[in-house]
Amino acid sequence: MRRKGLASMAVHSTETAANTSSVALGPAAALSCRECGERFDLGPIFACASCFGPLEVAYDLPSGDPESLKKQIEAGPDNIWRYAPLLPVPVDVADKPNLNPGFTKLVKADRLAAELGVTGGLYVKDDSGNPTHSFKDRVVAIAVEAARAFGFTTLSCSSTGNLAGAVGAAARRAGFKSCVFIPHDLEAGKVVMAAVYGGDLVGIEGNYDDVNRFCSELIGDPLGEGWGFVNVNLRPYYGEGSKTLAYEICEQLGWQLPDQLVIPIASGSQLTKIDKGLKELIALGLVEDKPYKIFGAQAEGCSPVSTAFKAGHDVVRPQKPMTIAKSLAIGNPADGPYVLDIARRTGGAVEDVDDEQIVDAIKLLARTEGIFAETAGGVTVGVTKKLIEDGLLDPSLTTVVLNTGDGLKTLDAVAPTSGPTATIRPNLDAFRAAGLAG
Ligand SMILES: Cc1ncc(COP(=O)(O)O)c(C=O)c1O
Ligand SMILES: [Zn+2]
Repeated sequence: MRRKGLASMAVHSTETAANTSSVALGPAAALSCRECGERFDLGPIFACASCFGPLEVAYDLPSGDPESLKKQIEAGPDNIWRYAPLLPVPVDVADKPNLNPGFTKLVKADRLAAELGVTGGLYVKDDSGNPTHSFKDRVVAIAVEAARAFGFTTLSCSSTGNLAGAVGAAARRAGFKSCVFIPHDLEAGKVVMAAVYGGDLVGIEGNYDDVNRFCSELIGDPLGEGWGFVNVNLRPYYGEGSKTLAYEICEQLGWQLPDQLVIPIASGSQLTKIDKGLKELIALGLVEDKPYKIFGAQAEGCSPVSTAFKAGHDVVRPQKPMTIAKSLAIGNPADGPYVLDIARRTGGAVEDVDDEQIVDAIKLLARTEGIFAETAGGVTVGVTKKLIEDGLLDPSLTTVVLNTGDGLKTLDAVAPTSGPTATIRPNLDAFRAAGLAG
């Protein structure tokens, strides 16, 4: 019943969209069903009308000499548009008004490596440097181009916080109206960021899964006419933005695959698309083919995927989230089963850490590398530590850990245990008495 209802909703979206048959989105050729392979014209649809599997962008990727493609990429702008030949965006994308995220730092984290006992090279891909300080700017940038192509006038999303800010900002830059939906009880920093750009912000009395369900209803209703929901009816395009993390990591490693990656999971989209990006680089001959392992990271208080992984299940049972890592608090992750496949296929794992370990890991990263991560970054660093202790992650191999957001967004998580070393009167005697000199 439910499958059928949602599938017809997706078809409804296609019918109401403007002139989708003539849409030109670079190398994107069609949408194809991840489950049954059926193909559809490019349009604002997200579920297969036959089997309700998720739709993905299928490409006619550039064929020819990998070296000249590398040179073309390297000569491109210092943002995700350097990879435009591999993305569902118009060829003149760099000239359009967009926040132009990406090409963030890949930090060689030698001090963190020493603390964790990693000898094979440890890197932090630091996406806190994006325009709204999380990796969500990547996915939104691609969705904006799709929204433009399909003639939407309002940008929208269901969000655990970061996406709301990214959509609010990108909509302003690109000239869309925006209306974003969040659970009512998010961190103050994320609420302010989502509101400050001046679009509409709606708090929903419920958790993220309630917000998402509400947005799916809105898409099927005339009330949602003309609205592009970046992570619902534009989800196939949105997801492609995460591939740019795979491209950047490999380019920044000198066009090489890392041996291991540790990636946070909320819906699981980022992890599955990074895997897709790595496979594309291999297929294009841009990197040498070799095995790589993908590890997923969750918070114990919202760990449906790691629970399924550890139990050896293929089905991800929904949970009610209760964790300080609110950006990862999706109890019913859409891409959960695909994450399980990828972790198992590549020889990786999915692990979780509790709230105390998350805070400790945030402080560890800050203390060793001068990087202040939001709680999601604490989850990945904490899980990396645990995976090494448990012998699942090989410390002698090249490892990339993702920091997907900025610690200033989740100050509350560390505020209770972080404060001045001393508060003194403004004179030298008081400073001497505090015992800090030298
Ligand atoms: C900071 C941060 N990291 C990671 C994720 C995980 O994203 P995904 O839903 O693609 O798994 C999110 C999702 O909101 C996020 O906000
Ligand atoms: Zn299908």
